[in-house]
Amino acid sequence: MIKSVILIGIALFELVAAQCPANYFYVDPLKSCVSFNTGGSTSLFADAETACQKAGGHLASVHNAFENSLVASYARSRVTTDKFYVGLSRKTQVTQDWDWTDASVYDYRNWLNGNPNGTGLCAVVDINNQMWTDVDCTQEYDYACSIPFGCPDGYSLFNYTNMCYYKGNGGNYANAQNTCHSVKGELASIHSVEEQNFVSNLVFSRCGTGPHGGKLGETLLGGVFNKGQGVEWADKSQSDYTFNLCGHTDAKGSTVVMAAHQKGSGCGSCYDSSWYISNESPTNNGATYEAFVCKTTPYGH
Ligand SMILES: *[C@@H]1O[C@H](CO)[C@@H](O)[C@H](O)[C@H]1NC(C)=O
Ligand SMILES: *[C@@H]1O[C@H](CO)[C@@H](O)[C@H](O)[C@H]1NC(C)=O
Repeated sequence: MIKSVILIGIALFELVAAQCPANYFYVDPLKSCVSFNTGGSTSLFADAETACQKAGGHLASVHNAFENSLVASYARSRVTTDKFYVGLSRKTQVTQDWDWTDASVYDYRNWLNGNPNGTGLCAVVDINNQMWTDVDCTQEYDYACSIPFGCPDGYSLFNYTNMCYYKGNGGNYANAQNTCHSVKGELASIHSVEEQNFVSNLVFSRCGTGPHGGKLGETLLGGVFNKGQGVEWADKSQSDYTFNLCGHTDAKGSTVVMAAHQKGSGCGSCYDSSWYISNESPTNNGATYEAFVCKTTPYGH
């Protein structure tokens, strides 16, 4: 029973596929692309780390019981040795200063009772009990590589565009743009119906009047509409897609707003995930919106 729950959990994490290198798969909770035996076979510790680095990563590091268990569970069906290398080693037998090859902090340990007991300077994880033992680094084992990949905190990855999206609450254009910049993004641009649908599902979706006078469900995107020229996006991307403009096609130099994606009371008839070209320019700081969306690229790739 417990095992099947774990397996279902793992299957769900794997569904959130992003663009990992060949033979790597994305593990959302680790914000990483993970692979076992990148080089094709068992390796010495140093060779394993080199193989992981060639792919842009390091031997995996784990920082809590959940991560340890997750990596060990994935390893179980993928490795051929009962134990596998992660990126933990120390310089001499006498020191308990263990270092991760990815330079992350040694802030979690899961040593088997009595270990490390001086067998060697490298650590392996046992796929059966998930405990660590120290081994001679010149012994060959299978190994886990990990490449950081994912979105900054607060962002959601959309695997179709392979971009990260963040929903912010309220404010005028300047506030919204400042917030996006502070979370290392830019107000969002939209380039396909898939992206349009993802973003409209991410944001708030009802109609009415919001707390700051802005209409609920009106979500600020990062663009200025110019009739005949399409949208000038804040992130400098091309204007290659426009959605139903909801009749507001005459406005010039006005901000592009996405309307609520659910019809309902207080909603106009075309408030169905349409764009709304507000009559406000971005520099009119009096105009406030219920939400805004920031967009950025995933890190580590
Ligand atoms: C994106 O993720 C969904 C599940 O969230 C999956 O069904 C789909 O195949 C993935 N698409 C791509 C392009 O990886
Ligand atoms: C160290 O621990 C390992 C794993 O429990 C064991 O196989 C090995 O015999 C121990 N070595 C010594 C010197 O105690």
